[in-house]
Amino acid sequence: MDERLAERIQGISPFYVMELLQRAKQLEAQGKDVIHMEIGEPDFATPPSIVDAGVKQLQTGEVKYTPAAGLPELREKIAGFYRQRYAVTVDKERIFVTPGASGAFLLALGVSLNPGEELLMSDPCYPCNSNFVKLFDGKTKTVPVDSTSRYQLTAKHIKQHWTKATKGVLIASPSNPTGTVIASEELKQAIQAVNELGGCFYSDEIYHGLAYGENASTALAFSDDVFVINSFSKYFGMTGWRIGWLIVPEAFIEATGKLAQNIFIATSTHSQYAALAAFDEYTLAELERRRAEFEARRDFLYGSLLRLGFEIPIKPDGAFYIYANCSKFTDDSYQFALDLLEAEGVAVTPGKDFGLNKANHYIRFAYTTSIDRMSIAMQRLEKFINIKDSHVRKTSICDRIKSQNPK
Ligand SMILES: Cc1ncc(COP(=O)(O)O)c(C=O)c1O
Repeated sequence: MDERLAERIQGISPFYVMELLQRAKQLEAQGKDVIHMEIGEPDFATPPSIVDAGVKQLQTGEVKYTPAAGLPELREKIAGFYRQRYAVTVDKERIFVTPGASGAFLLALGVSLNPGEELLMSDPCYPCNSNFVKLFDGKTKTVPVDSTSRYQLTAKHIKQHWTKATKGVLIASPSNPTGTVIASEELKQAIQAVNELGGCFYSDEIYHGLAYGENASTALAFSDDVFVINSFSKYFGMTGWRIGWLIVPEAFIEATGKLAQNIFIATSTHSQYAALAAFDEYTLAELERRRAEFEARRDFLYGSLLRLGFEIPIKPDGAFYIYANCSKFTDDSYQFALDLLEAEGVAVTPGKDFGLNKANHYIRFAYTTSIDRMSIAMQRLEKFINIKDSHVRKTSICDRIKSQNPK
């Protein structure tokens, strides 16, 4: 390894699923049909009204830098969205337009985390957030969670794991990889606990809009003293436009503005103009149709996986993921994912991309492909499991015979 590499890079983990993706590409190049259920982005194209608004702006040629905090009219629209959807008032000065939720989190940590300070997060959780903490020379303390808390951190977890080194808590709801939404009351109590402990609360709300029961509550409904991270990537279908937003407590406005100027200068101009169309009635109606399609897919996949013998203790009620326990079939979900891809051309994400908590027993299925494609994937998965099962039965019979006749 080149000794000029920064030490902090060693603590940053790559995605295991990338290896799978690379293999999937090779198989596809050889003419094999691969069904992608590993991909964490909507398969729908960006709504045409948003694309048109972005293209129109490009055609004017006016794509110079915008103010670092974002176009004032977009910040106003985001504030309006909170009034309309959540009945919450947010001063637009607290809203910063960023290059995705990723950019939002970088800013939030940049203005609030000192080297050595710790953030509490659930295990399993989305791994990049934890890597961002390492980038700022902070530490992540992951707390193993299970279905009893909907795979979310609770006030009880927070109080139990808080130490002198703890700076704050990150909660992502709906969650990646479990797709579960934290109950409103639990969110409120978690925020209260962090406020009382004098820490920072970071709420990753990137999958808001994609909830299939009650709407997910925003942290802003319970406190102004929170960092809210959101994005146009998922619900609005704009992953590649790289645009999101961050809402900061009032005391952090000046610092966030200063940091945004320095590290991004501004978010992509045409993406900001495109996003102005994201809150139009027409666009929102289209996004609601997509949400309904995701819900139907969730129901299909949930039923199919249970029928095949996967364990899913609670029905996920958000995002577009099902985190399924596959311990009935394997003790190594990574190998299972590699073999499934190789044998049947179905790509899924192994649990170890999301932490250490029983990760070898979990697989994340993303329903970012049609029900028709998923139903073929389920047939292939069934075949794979049956072959694997008969192989296991055969080898265990062999083992038994061998142990009875050691020679
Ligand atoms: C939980 C969570 N947070 C943040 C992000 C980052 O999203 P983006 O930077 O595209 O807005 C993702 C992306 O998959 C995610 O799943």
